[in-house]
Amino acid sequence: MTAPVKFLLDESRMPAHWYNIAPDLPSPPPAVLHPGTLNPIGPDDLAPLFPFSLILQEVSTEREVDIPGPVIDIYRQWRPSPLYRARRLEQALQTPARLYYKYEGVSPAGSHKPNTAVAQAFYNKAAGVARIVTETGAGQWGSALALAGALFGLDIQVFMVRVSYDQKPYRRAFMETFGARCIASPSPDTVFGRSVLDRTPDNPGSLGIAISEAVEVAATREDTKYALGSVLNHVLLHQTIIGQEAIAQFALAGDYPDMVIGCAGGGSNFAGIAFPFIGAGLRGGPAPRAIAVEPAACPSLTRGRYAYDFGDTGGLTPLVKMHTLGAAFIPPSFHAGGLRYHGMAPLVSHLKELGLIEARAARQTECFAAGVEFARAEGIVPAPEANHAVRATIDEALQCREDGISRAILFNLSGHGHFDMQAYSEYFAGRLTDQQYDEDKLAESLAGLPTVAGA
Ligand SMILES: Cc1ncc(COP(=O)(O)O)c(C=O)c1O
Repeated sequence: MTAPVKFLLDESRMPAHWYNIAPDLPSPPPAVLHPGTLNPIGPDDLAPLFPFSLILQEVSTEREVDIPGPVIDIYRQWRPSPLYRARRLEQALQTPARLYYKYEGVSPAGSHKPNTAVAQAFYNKAAGVARIVTETGAGQWGSALALAGALFGLDIQVFMVRVSYDQKPYRRAFMETFGARCIASPSPDTVFGRSVLDRTPDNPGSLGIAISEAVEVAATREDTKYALGSVLNHVLLHQTIIGQEAIAQFALAGDYPDMVIGCAGGGSNFAGIAFPFIGAGLRGGPAPRAIAVEPAACPSLTRGRYAYDFGDTGGLTPLVKMHTLGAAFIPPSFHAGGLRYHGMAPLVSHLKELGLIEARAARQTECFAAGVEFARAEGIVPAPEANHAVRATIDEALQCREDGISRAILFNLSGHGHFDMQAYSEYFAGRLTDQQYDEDKLAESLAGLPTVAGA
């Protein structure tokens, strides 16, 4: 019999709950603070932005949170996603490692983002919300929410980071296909956007700025709520369907990973694949190494400070304790737009402090080289963000070759790169460079972190 390449779960075996890692942790993450009083926030503070059901998930201590039936019905369109054994890549690398990837590019938007977009749209619709406003970096999250909005009959407005808006006109068209409105950020539509444009008319934008614009619109309109595509606890929670499926698929494969790898922008796809494995380890099972891979040009986990900071550039959000480069930090305009965020999910940051995860940074050109190597072996073109996970996986596979050890390595292929071919063209033309961030600007941005006594 030929060796299997895909491990497929039947729809009937799709997990019926999301996994919340909070009750399995040795200590809870630090409280979220009100920026004015510096006291822990309560549900009322978040009520202008999110429906109550999502606020409850944000602070939930239940290990399992039921996935609502209508969300499961939509998940069935593409879930369970396949787990692949990368046999051809193993051969190409001549490695004894057993390489696996969970492919989230099979979703209609092309990434893992619909796992939470569909859930967030469902809870907003159930709460009687008419409109959701959001930001998007690479366009993946905006695409996912546009899709979810169409499925639940919600108006969607997306502030898209200017540099991605210019680089990826087809992402815009994709969002518009689903009826969403897409605006380049910084924009003249908001007070904060206008203030940024006054100071820096050719500002390339950042996720932090786009979040401020979206939050401003949501906070000032009764019929509108805000949605975030990463970072928050409930977003990470929704993504855990990835890792839970992977655990069941590894049982089909008769194997278990020694290492779980994901790229990390705000931390949601990494958490989605890694948390269920980490949780199983915390409950006495085998504990694979979990490795988050971030861009060297925006290295919050490896170079940032673990401190209280705003989630956005305009200082409109509560203060969260996370690894941050400072809310004022504007990363260079590299192509993995979904990883250009100054902070990191508080839960991922907390796990890093607890020593439960590792982090490393990779440069853009070495990530594209890995993505091309992967595509030529496996036939799938990864999103530039996912190339960071591919890079670390190939590096670990080569290490196995050097050590003469066969380790099982799982990575999350968080999305395909079909809307990112301009970036690949530039890579092939030799025009991609490894832009370094400005050390002085980073120091300045870190110096501007809010002061929170005792934190
Ligand atoms: C394909 C892909 N992977 C990863 C990310 C990074 O986000 P996160 O760290 O929340 O998974 C993005 C963000 O847009 C993305 O589009």
